[in-house]
Amino acid sequence: MSLTIRTFTDSDRDAVVRLWRDCGLVHPQNDPHRDIDRKIADGLDYFLVATVDDAIVASVMGGYEGHRGWVNYLAVDPARRRRGIARQLMSELERRLRQVGCAKINLQIRSTNTSVMEFYRRIGYVQDEVVCMGRRLVDDHRHAATDATGQALRR
Ligand SMILES: CC(C)(COP(=O)(O)OP(=O)(O)OC[C@H]1O[C@@H](n2cnc3c(N)ncnc32)[C@H](O)[C@@H]1OP(=O)(O)O)[C@@H](O)C(=O)NCCC(=O)NCCS
Repeated sequence: MSLTIRTFTDSDRDAVVRLWRDCGLVHPQNDPHRDIDRKIADGLDYFLVATVDDAIVASVMGGYEGHRGWVNYLAVDPARRRRGIARQLMSELERRLRQVGCAKINLQIRSTNTSVMEFYRRIGYVQDEVVCMGRRLVDDHRHAATDATGQALRR
């Protein structure tokens, strides 16, 4: 198996969304196409795909905000798991992040996704003693969203 790891391009979009669906990563509150549009607007340096014979077999949507690196949408085709593909993708993401001075990577795992925790431990990640909080600014599936004061926002 000859694996190529490269930066995502927009022509990968449909195959990547299919992969995310096959891997159970598409949730009602996230529109995958919008997530890709937002990533394209922000920059693609850390959005990686892995291919075999030009077919997409894995993805990771990494990011860097000047302090921490982030990992989203890590997914490997269910038929190609346990062959080191995710480890290689994460290693390339870490290499790119190190190059720009990123000192630490953070990532979030759904509390129901227990099996993936062992994967991250195996590749050197440890559980931080932090509470993760978030606030949705845009509901991709509704028109109404509010700001921090509760004021309705228009999209
Ligand atoms: C998690 C996932 C990306 C792992 O991909 P993968 O290509 O199979 O992982 P690798 O083959 O690179 O595995 C690296 C190491 O982790 C171990 N590992 C991988 N998946 C594991 C699992 N589910 N449970 C326990 N160990 C696991 C491997 O055995 C290997 O260990 P070793 O190097 O000590 O032998 C893949 O299972 C996946 O796409 N899951 C669904 C999507 C998902 O949950 N993504 C994460 C969102 S936070």
